[in-house]
Amino acid sequence: MTQQLTIALSKGRIFEETLPLLANAGIVPTEDPESSRKLIIATNHEHIRLIIVRATDVPTYVQYGAADFGIAGRDVLIEHGGEGLYQPLNLNIAKCRMMVAVRQGFDYQAASRDGQRLRVATKYPNIAAEHFASKGVHVDIIKLYGSMELAPLVGLSDAIVDLVSTGNTLKANNLEAVEHITDISSRLVVNKASLKTKHELLNPIINAFAQAIV
Ligand code: ATP
Ligand code: PRP
Repeated sequence: MTQQLTIALSKGRIFEETLPLLANAGIVPTEDPESSRKLIIATNHEHIRLIIVRATDVPTYVQYGAADFGIAGRDVLIEHGGEGLYQPLNLNIAKCRMMVAVRQGFDYQAASRDGQRLRVATKYPNIAAEHFASKGVHVDIIKLYGSMELAPLVGLSDAIVDLVSTGNTLKANNLEAVEHITDISSRLVVNKASLKTKHELLNPIINAFAQAIV
């Protein structure tokens, strides 16, 4: 019997930017998840299917073997911890930077130098906690699930830790980036057991992805 392969992807930019990589491996989805309500999407290969999950859930599906492999941002992977995941490739897609940002005019350097306790709102509590601990800055972290840019504008926090690409979102909300934490791009994540039991199916796909990295 032919083995099944399940690939976990999130809608939006990861799906869009993964299409050329899939195409290089000869895999073409039969539907567009943006217009379809289906969460399991067939491909031109009977034994390969895509599952559409939240970006933050990709590592969990792969870790537990509900998907054989997936694509996740380094931000999501650092927060998740990467347990049970083999990360063979940096795909160089969905590139952005993890930054600390504050309201324009807020003297972040002085505030952190003076040993003030800063309130930091973020979707990335682990990354934020580690960053400020390494600098010896005392912070209270407030966990949010989105729209972090709002927090300093309404007095919820002094600073945010969020992703920045063009900088347009910060600018539109009168915020400025004050510290670069790390560069982010998306990685291929593979279930460690699948790598052993399905290597004949997986290896050609991983190689095709590697060739298509720009
Ligand atoms: P969810 O919908 O589950 O909250 P999300 O909104 O973070 O997730 P996306 O916006 O599709 O999902 O982001 C997926 C990944 O793309 C992120 O984990 C990050 O690695 C990367 N990313 C996020 N924002 C940007 C951006 N502005 N430019 C480039 N890459 C980005
Ligand atoms: C991400 C991130 C920032 C924005 C930065 O949000 O959380 O808000 O992109 O990009 P920019 O620097 O190019 O403006 P996203 O577009 O994913 O929206 P969401 O996470 O709120 O869905």
